[in-house]
Formats: sequence, structure tokens, C-alpha cells
Amino acid sequence: MCRQSFPQPAEKTCCPIGIYIADPGLKSAAEILAVKTGLPIINTRSQLETALIVSQNGLSLARPNDAEMTGTVQVDFTTGAWIRRLKRVGTERLVKAMGKKSRKATRIVDATGGLGRDSFLLAAAGFQLQVFERNPVLAALLADGLNRASKTAVSEKICRRIRFSPGDAIDFLAPGEAVAEIIYLDPMFPGTTSTAKVKKDLQMIQHVTDEDADIDPLFACALQAAGERVVVKRPKKGPWLSDRRPDYSLAGTTIRFDVYLVGSRCGQ
Ligand SMILES: C[S@@+](CC[C@H](N)C(=O)[O-])C[C@H]1O[C@@H](n2cnc3c(N)ncnc32)[C@H](O)[C@@H]1O
Repeated sequence: MCRQSFPQPAEKTCCPIGIYIADPGLKSAAEILAVKTGLPIINTRSQLETALIVSQNGLSLARPNDAEMTGTVQVDFTTGAWIRRLKRVGTERLVKAMGKKSRKATRIVDATGGLGRDSFLLAAAGFQLQVFERNPVLAALLADGLNRASKTAVSEKICRRIRFSPGDAIDFLAPGEAVAEIIYLDPMFPGTTSTAKVKKDLQMIQHVTDEDADIDPLFACALQAAGERVVVKRPKKGPWLSDRRPDYSLAGTTIRFDVYLVGSRCGQ
């Protein structure tokens, strides 16, 4: 809860996380966002540890008083870096881990959407994506990024292959019903909270959500609900999820994709 009954020195924060309106014209949009996310609207940015900023350029996250986290994090699939990356999307290990040639006919559930980077890459490679994100702040950032990307010529087609649902994926993955050929999981890696090497956007995710300690039931559901395979992103030297040996793995320099082949139940 936000405590504002006494004047606070400017450098003291009062709320761990809240909404800051950078443009007064966006007050109603911010109020809708406050209802969706359950976050308070705070008028002084420096009173927030983490600020979800509403501006004409879309939503972004900032840590106003954190000297190690300057700048903002936004979901933006339209940058030059993204456009260059999309040109060689077929070489991405993530795409290879899906093991499919006929991508257009293949549905993937990304059950741990986060900031949507993996989903966007997979959609750019031609797959049909159903994406879930249960954290309301990350869900709002992702929805905003997809909305902006859908308005640009370069990304509009990719966005048409993505269906995004804020909420818990476990509610969607009914055991025994093959909901997609592939289910993809990228749970928050354990033990990375204070690592300086963790990229800025991942660090920012860590400030608004906890480690995915309850990933085992989601993994068990995914193994039941996938028609063909479950792909899990792990740190290169991290343990297997739920201690379960994958059928094979594709490893890069820092991460690894564990592939679990689950047979061919899709469409039955
Ligand atoms: C490491 S992040 C995923 C990053 C993502 N792959 C990307 O490319 O941006 C993990 C995310 O999974 C979400 N998550 C974990 N369990 C979930 C569940 N059962 N349903 C929906 N989202 C979940 C967390 O809230 C967190 O944002």
C-alpha cells in the first residue's frame, strides 16, 4: 500500500511499483491501466521504486532511483536491431528447437510470454503463436508493444500470427487435450537476481515478478497438452526442469533448449 499521509523527502520512495502519467492527456488510459494491473497512479515519479510510465510513445518501465538501472525498458519490435535480427530468424537456435519445416501449419503455445521476444521471433519464422503472460505489468507492456508493432508495415504480418492472452497458461492447458503441436516454456532462471551480466530487460522483469517457483505443474500440463513436443529454455549449465531428461538439447554459449518429444496426439 502507498503511504502518503506525511510529506516525504523527494528521494524517499513510497511505492514499490505504480503508474506514472508522463502526458496528462493520457489520464483516462492510465486509469484503465490502473484497474487492469491493480497498481496505484502516483504523480511523483521519484516516489516509485519501479514506474510503469504512460506516455505518447507507449508504456515503459523505469527504476527512477536505481543508479544501476538507468533508462527505460519497453517492448519495441520495430527497432533497427529487431529488424536485422528478423532477417536471419531461420538461424535462431530457438527456431531450430521447434524442429519443423512446415511452420505455417504449426501452432505454438508460448506459456511464459514475458516481454514477448521469443514469441515474436517464432512468429517471424512463420509459426502461429498463442501467448500467455500472467503478470499484469508485463502483460500490459507486451500488449502495448504488440499493438504498436501491428501498426508498422514491417511487423504487421508477424503480429497477425500472434494471439496474446493476459493470464495464467495453466488454465488453458487442459490435460489430454492437444492444444497445440508445440508448447514453449521459458521460466525465470533461478539464481540470477543480482547477476550483473543479466540483461537490462530481464533485470527489469525480475523487479516486477518473482522467480517462477511453481513451474513444475505448468511443465507437467504442457507435457500432457502438447501434440508433438515441449521446448524448455534453460541456462546452459542449469538443471533439467523437474529433473526430467529431455530427448535432446540444443545448446548455445549461455542458454540451452531442452526438447521433449511427446508423440503425435494433436487433432485427436
Ligand atoms: C523469463 S520470462 C519469459 C521471457 C520471454 N521468453 C521473452 O522472450 O521475453 C518468464 C515469464 O513467464 C511468466 N509465467 C510464469 N509462469 C506462467 C504461467 N503459468 N502463465 C503465464 N505466464 C507465466 C512470468 O510472469 C514471466 O514473465
